[in-house]
Amino acid sequence: MRRSRFIRQVPVLLVVASLSLGCGDDTPSPEHEDAGGPSTTLRQLAARAGKRIGAAVDAAALATDETYASVLAREFDYVTPENAMKWGPLEPVDGSYAWADADDIVEFAEAHGQEVKGHTLVWHRQTPSWVDSSMSADELSSALEDHITTTMTRYKGRLRAWDVVNEAVDVATDSGFTQSVFYEVLGPSYIADAFRWARAADPEALLFYNEVGIERLGEKSDFTYDLMQELLDQGVPIDGIGLQSHVSTHRYPSLNDLQANLRRFASLGLVLNISEVDARTRLMPGEKESRLFAQRIAFQQIVSACVLEAGCEAVTFWGFTDKYSWINDEGPEDPLLFDRDYEAKPAYDGVVDGLAGERPALGPNLVPNGDFSQEDAGWSSDAELNSIDDDVLDMRAVCVTGRDGGSMGLSRAGLLDALSGGGPFSFQARVRIEGAESVSVEARLLVEEPASGEPLQELNIAARPVTNGEWMELAGYFGLGFESSPTAITLTLSSTPADVDLCVADVRIESVSAR
Ligand code: G3I
Repeated sequence: MRRSRFIRQVPVLLVVASLSLGCGDDTPSPEHEDAGGPSTTLRQLAARAGKRIGAAVDAAALATDETYASVLAREFDYVTPENAMKWGPLEPVDGSYAWADADDIVEFAEAHGQEVKGHTLVWHRQTPSWVDSSMSADELSSALEDHITTTMTRYKGRLRAWDVVNEAVDVATDSGFTQSVFYEVLGPSYIADAFRWARAADPEALLFYNEVGIERLGEKSDFTYDLMQELLDQGVPIDGIGLQSHVSTHRYPSLNDLQANLRRFASLGLVLNISEVDARTRLMPGEKESRLFAQRIAFQQIVSACVLEAGCEAVTFWGFTDKYSWINDEGPEDPLLFDRDYEAKPAYDGVVDGLAGERPALGPNLVPNGDFSQEDAGWSSDAELNSIDDDVLDMRAVCVTGRDGGSMGLSRAGLLDALSGGGPFSFQARVRIEGAESVSVEARLLVEEPASGEPLQELNIAARPVTNGEWMELAGYFGLGFESSPTAITLTLSSTPADVDLCVADVRIESVSAR
């Protein structure tokens, strides 16, 4: 596995400049403390953890908002142009490049002791309008090679890494690949070609594949893992993978899922990046304070997962202040670390805790008889229930057989007292199915909240494909909130299709706190 680093000779003048700005060294400058910043910055904490902490950069904000530039320089040591280096913004007219925004970001980074990750050379969105499926394979291939070569050559030796191909997987399609102009005209070989052209253009840059929605174990991360393995086996020069991690506080991957995924991609010899972190908060009902606390926990979990995995080198947030997030078009999602006035939110503390390698703390199991020590007491099903002592897990389990209806599964009512306080929770259970090669098993909470706009809510808190006969972990984090007072909360576990036997063990719902 290549670990290329380039050593940049930073002129003495620039070093002095960076020291005066209180970044690039360990002691915060007086100006920095007067600026109301924290005594220890994220980039200092990240350096102590041996990691990079990054942010996507909005070129317009960088050029016009001094506070934006100051906080970016103070807190982050790794920057990714949010849009400036995409093909459309860079080459809106064939052969005519608009370098200014990208140059500004690279020069700002170099002046502030920050490294740069280029984003993104090949993506089916924000391509120039002159790139379309009317082009022949030779025309498109030549245009793509020229774009990659020209762009990477301009910044050769100055960028640590590049997102070469972004979001090429879509498991909703027959092929599993995103139906893009590249796939339609060139076929899947465009992925390998892009990486080979990139390696030739800048042999010193780390080349990343970047993907959305592969944080959880499941179909898309499985397909992506297999694709990476196949390309690496063909000698395609891929150095790293980015797990974007755009999450929502109402439901996001469990820490175990995230770490299991990180580990398996690392086992391919890939450098890991958690590359585009933000956490929507609007879908989680309840008070803003509770939603922002759930966001703090989400960021702590994601950052600690990278700090605790040797193969993970960087966590990059997709922006850093709610003032400029790409998400807010649907109303106040408040997805980032700083609010619109650049005040650090609870999410900032979550990043601090995560950089210290502190996982969120779990409380006691809130599911009565979740370990089935009292057999199936308190559990119910529309089908047949029987409890067993499973010798594989060496623990008690309950199996549901004779399921012939889609909703038939295992239910646990009476969770109102345990969960009505709301907040972030962790869910996990061991599940096994018999009678089908692989089916999806889901965990849901049925919340009765008569006074709310939705009197009966079904919250999907975890789902995954489960292979026949194997005990697997079904897990997820979720944020629970209420518009009014709930009157009943029931946990159900079921699978689709229904005509398979479902066994369940070690069911846990635990409150999650910072420490
Ligand atoms: O620059 C034009 C401006 O001239 C015009 O007036 C304005 C109104 O139409 O649009 C501006 O372009 C916008 C661009 O952001 C720059 O602000 C585009 O409309 C808008 O679609 C684009 O959104 C970007 C989005 O990618 C495009 O899909 C977001 O800022 C950016 O955060 C987002 O980032 C992607 C990553 O690159 C890949 N992973 C997913 C992530 C979120 O979609």
